Amino acid sequence: ALLPPPGGPGDAAGQALPVESRPFASYGSALHIALPQAPRAGQLLTLLIDYEAGEGPGVCWLSPEQTAGKQKPYMYTQGQAVLNRSFFPCFDTPSAKFTYSATVKVPEGFTAVMSATSWEKQKDNTFVFKMSQPIPSYLIALVVGDIVSADVGPRSRVWAEPCLIEAAKKEYDGVIEEFLVVGEKLFGPYVWGRYDILFMPPSFPFGGMENPCLTFVTPCLLAGDRSLVDVIIHEISHSWFGNLVTNATWGEFWLNEGFTMYAQRRISTEVYGLPYTCLEAATGRALLRQHMDATGEDHPLNKLRVVIEPGFCLFLGVNPDDTYNETPYEKGYCFVSYLAHLVGNQSKFDAFLQAYVNRFKFQSITADDTLGFFLEYFPELKEKGVDSIPGFEFDRWLNTPGWPPYLPDLSPGQQLMRPADELAELWAADSLNMEAIEAVDITGWRTYQLVYFLDQVLQKSPLPEGNVKRLSKMYPKVSKAQNAELRLRWCQIVLKNNLEAEYSKVKDFLHSQGKQKYTLPLYRAMWGGSEATRALAMETFSATAPQLHVNVQNYVKKILGLGGPE
Ligand code: BES
Ligand code: ZN
Repeated sequence: ALLPPPGGPGDAAGQALPVESRPFASYGSALHIALPQAPRAGQLLTLLIDYEAGEGPGVCWLSPEQTAGKQKPYMYTQGQAVLNRSFFPCFDTPSAKFTYSATVKVPEGFTAVMSATSWEKQKDNTFVFKMSQPIPSYLIALVVGDIVSADVGPRSRVWAEPCLIEAAKKEYDGVIEEFLVVGEKLFGPYVWGRYDILFMPPSFPFGGMENPCLTFVTPCLLAGDRSLVDVIIHEISHSWFGNLVTNATWGEFWLNEGFTMYAQRRISTEVYGLPYTCLEAATGRALLRQHMDATGEDHPLNKLRVVIEPGFCLFLGVNPDDTYNETPYEKGYCFVSYLAHLVGNQSKFDAFLQAYVNRFKFQSITADDTLGFFLEYFPELKEKGVDSIPGFEFDRWLNTPGWPPYLPDLSPGQQLMRPADELAELWAADSLNMEAIEAVDITGWRTYQLVYFLDQVLQKSPLPEGNVKRLSKMYPKVSKAQNAELRLRWCQIVLKNNLEAEYSKVKDFLHSQGKQKYTLPLYRAMWGGSEATRALAMETFSATAPQLHVNVQNYVKKILGLGGPE
């Protein structure tokens, strides 16, 4: 219904309008509402839309068995990239920003939380939320469940199911504020008020999701030793890159993720130092290598600028959710690092980033805006024509698929990487030099050193017969790890080396969580392996499919040739 202007005359119930749903793409339909007359430019209209959200992919309904506590059901929404259109009618494009408020009534014994700047519990289990800063539709998020909270900083608390709250508090007590303070020092004011973290049920498909004021994270981050805190720093970095300055189209997703990777590593450098940050970045580079090897460097999604438009046929074109791969992250990171390299001075580049956020805050922009501003901010670089240096043209960065033309120097991480490189070399030998191997003590290694080591072993796999079995015996710290990043790598090594005795670890890991970046690589490896690993894939998928997010389910189906939607 069209409501009368506030204060003016007219029927308070409003005027009913003709409504029609029209085809749009495989990922949603268009809601057409006919207005009684064409509005004037700048005219404010108030529409009342009565709707029910059903089984759409944006709203996930979990049974008690799918939660950590296994007692009560749980519901959550995941908007990015284009799923919130099944949660509420909206202009579901990152180019439009708006404030919102919501009143949520939930059953007794449940709590509702949203990505909002303020919230309040009223009588009858009713929660009232308000987001007072303009945000794009994909950042609206809601959780209803049996959840409780604990403070971990002056403007931060963790939320989790009661059985996880102790662990959640322990993981991040007293560490969040420093990241926020360093972020503010580098990129300008944190405008969102609170920064809270919600630990999701194990099937949450992402490591983290930067819902403003309230990041959602996988419970896999509860490693007990803060070793996976880079995910938190990443989501905090979105407070400036993504949530304040937003990509106007999903075809330029790298503007969100590439700048965020750069910001994450700037904060990490300030807090943990350059060597550690370079080590983490090297594991990111290995992921980009694996991704490009798997898809082929020339794959059209291996460009920073991807063509999304449905084109001449509504069901062709790229689904924005399919652009979630390593390219926008790690190639995007390389491009931003390249811009910093052109400037040649870290504090000048930091100042540029802060000016960039300030210039485009609360707006949605394209890469042309970003690069135009860069050249305007550094007129001497514009003068020199840095946008068209042969081989490094800005245009080439954006529109040519493939390996980044420039890679930032990660050699400050050598002190941490070299021992891992050398150890992997030893394990790849035809006849093992056990004396040399036993001389290396890995007990003091950080998680990311082990991750880096395992990536090197994986790259050299299959190793000569028997080596992986010995490696497994020698390092229970990696082969029996509880840490999800280590488990992923160990499972990949098990599969690549056909270590049948440990196939059950792959199955257990896939039963324990449903993160997309863990799930898909393992199914790809199983499907590309032997008869036995293919059977393992089928068996595991039929047991776990109902727990997986529908998007992840569909991607796995595609890998297993089970005829997904496309
Ligand atoms: N915004 C993304 C998650 C996302 C991307 C959801 C695309 C839906 C579509 C989030 O900030 C992210 O990048 N998470 C990473 C964290 C990592 C890079 C530290 C993840 O989940 O792995
Ligand atoms: Zn991100």
